[in-house]
Parts: sequence; structure tokens; C-alpha cells
Amino acid sequence: MKEIDFIGSENVVIIESPGRINIIGEHTDYNNGFVLPTAIDKKIRFKFKKNDSLNNCSVYSKNFEAGFAINLAHIEPSENQWENYILGVLHEIQKLTDRVRGFDCVLKSDIPIGSGISSSAALECGVAFGLNELFELGFSKKTIVELSQRAEHNFVGTKCGIMDQFASVMSKKGHVILLDCRSLEYEYVPIKIEPYKILLLNTNVTHSLASSEYNNRRKECETGIAIIKQKYTEVNSLRDVSEGMLKEFQAFMPPKVFDRCTYVIEEKTRVLKAVEALKNNQLNVLGDLMYETHNGLRDLYEVSCPELDFLVDFSKKYKEIIGARMMGGGFGGCTINIIHSENVESFTLDVSKAYFDKFSKNLTTFEAMPSEGTKRINN
Ligand code: GLA
Repeated sequence: MKEIDFIGSENVVIIESPGRINIIGEHTDYNNGFVLPTAIDKKIRFKFKKNDSLNNCSVYSKNFEAGFAINLAHIEPSENQWENYILGVLHEIQKLTDRVRGFDCVLKSDIPIGSGISSSAALECGVAFGLNELFELGFSKKTIVELSQRAEHNFVGTKCGIMDQFASVMSKKGHVILLDCRSLEYEYVPIKIEPYKILLLNTNVTHSLASSEYNNRRKECETGIAIIKQKYTEVNSLRDVSEGMLKEFQAFMPPKVFDRCTYVIEEKTRVLKAVEALKNNQLNVLGDLMYETHNGLRDLYEVSCPELDFLVDFSKKYKEIIGARMMGGGFGGCTINIIHSENVESFTLDVSKAYFDKFSKNLTTFEAMPSEGTKRINN
């Protein structure tokens, strides 16, 4: 399919939908715990217009230099995974309204794919947000977040939590969101960490295992809950379980399940400690908690990989870096580092060289700025 022409078109809707980082609180969202994410200044830009047909739509990605046609009367999963993020959103929208008609969409992204900063949520939420504007569907931001998450469950097959979509849509510039994933109550916490900066190191390892192993981790947590529930019937998620309660069941659980649950319960507490540290400007405390999270993800939750571990160990040698850890679902993607601004350049050179020497792979590095969530940028 050729690129769609928007020149001279009227009533074009232009949307920007960002990727996200997460300071701390990994694999806690689907366990009803807390997370601390924010959108960043990497985003997908979309243009949408109606095309006056009833059912015929086309979507074109400038990154892939490829597009595909959609018949709104027959939305089915595609063999091309990136198309499923869009088809899944349409499928979920159609369950809520019959007001969507034929449209054309072009998109261009500067979010590295598979790097753990959730290009997928940016894609889902951007499509949902854009169609909401184009056809005046009247969806709230919360509806956009939730239908985008369901799209990923039902069409992509990853049983993700709500963090990525929530961060992509709801973020506020210069803040992180303390989100309670059980109630969806949230608080914007200013992130004032000068003279420190947030530096992402992208392993460029694409996480092919990620989706299947992600779903397995979710199941392992459910197995743990089912065992605990035999005695504590009021328990519905690991949010309701203390370390003491979990210990009672150690002998009755497969060791891996016990480890997964231990990690989640510890991480739940770490997020709350990290928020306090951030509010009180105790950045060293925050940094130590990030390193602890990495250890838990590596040893107990087992979602890290040698490249991520290498980068975190390397960061530990620099006193100018106060905290680092793998970020997102795992098995590749980025580490997040809190680093003194004066050292960004020299550290980037050192770590890139060391990484190449060790793995014969290039490292990509970039600073992340806490930014605004999905928005329309024209009227
Ligand atoms: C992925 C999922 C999120 C969350 C993280 C791990 O990014 O989409 O819902 O579970 O992994 O914290």
C-alpha cells in the first residue's frame, strides 16, 4: 500500500501518543499493586481523517513503509503483529459504539520498538484517542486506557496490566504517577531530581520470549494466590498478602511460585518507600531501592537477561549513578539509570564501549523527559 495523502485534507485530527518509563514498581500492576510511571518525550504521531466510506479504512506506518486495509464489518486478528494493536482497538471500540466509519490514518514513531518503553501502548492509545476525536465518540480517558488494555489481551495475546496504557494517556509533564492498580486512584508526584537525569540504556535485545514468559509469570502469581486463598479466603490478589502470610505457605508451593510471590510482595513495599524518598528528595534511598528491584527481577522473578544484568552491574561502579535497574516486562529492552547530568556524556561513552566489547552489540542511549500523556495537537 502507498502512503496516504493528507495534502489539502480538511478536518484532520493530529494526535501524539507517548511511550513511558517506570521509576519503580515492575510486574506489580497485574497483581493489584502500585507503580510509578510517566510518559516520556518519545512518541508516535498520528494523522486521522474520515474518508466518507462506510467500512473501508487504511492505516500506513511511515516507519515500516507499509500499510494495510481494514474492513470495519470484518475485524479479525492479522498475522502481522503490529496490525493487531490497531485492529484490537477497533474491535474493542465496536463493542462500545457503532459510530466509527471509514477513515485513513498515517503514523510515524520515534519510540524504539521492543525496548520496554511501551511503543505498543502508545500505538493502542493513540488510535483510540484519535478515533474518539475524529468520530466524537465521547469516551473518557479512563475508557480509552481500559479498552486499549483489552485490545492487547484479546488481539495481541499479552495479558498485560494497566500501567502502560494508563501512563501513556494520563501523564502530566514533570511528574510521575503513583497509581494504585487496584482502585485506579492516582497521584501526580513532581519529579524534581536536578542535577540528576534519567538515562535509558537500550540493550537492543528484542524480547521475543517476553509475551509467553510474561503470561507465565502472571499464571504463577495466580497459582500462589489460589494456594493462599485456601486458608485466607478474602485474598484476591498479591496486594492482599503480607510477607508473613506468604511464608506460611512456602512448603505448599512450588519454589518458583514462592519466589515470584516474594518478589511482588517486596516490590509493593518498595514503591511506597520510593515515593516517600522522591518527595523528600532522598535520591540515594530511591537509587538503592531501584537496585534492589533489579536484584528481585533477576533472581526471584527471573525476567532479566545477561545484557541487562551487565549494564546494571556496570552502572554500580559509578558513584555518579545513584540507581539503575531493568525496566518493563524484561528479557531485553532498557535499563533506567538516575545519573548526574555532568557525567552523562562520559558514562555513555564508557558503557557503550564496554557493552560492545562484551556482547558485540551496539548500545543505544537516550535521556528521558517526563512528559504529557496522549493529546491532540491541532483543533
Ligand atoms: C509490561 C506490561 C505492563 C507491566 C510491565 C511490567 O510493560 O505491559 O502492564 O506489567 O510489563 O511491570
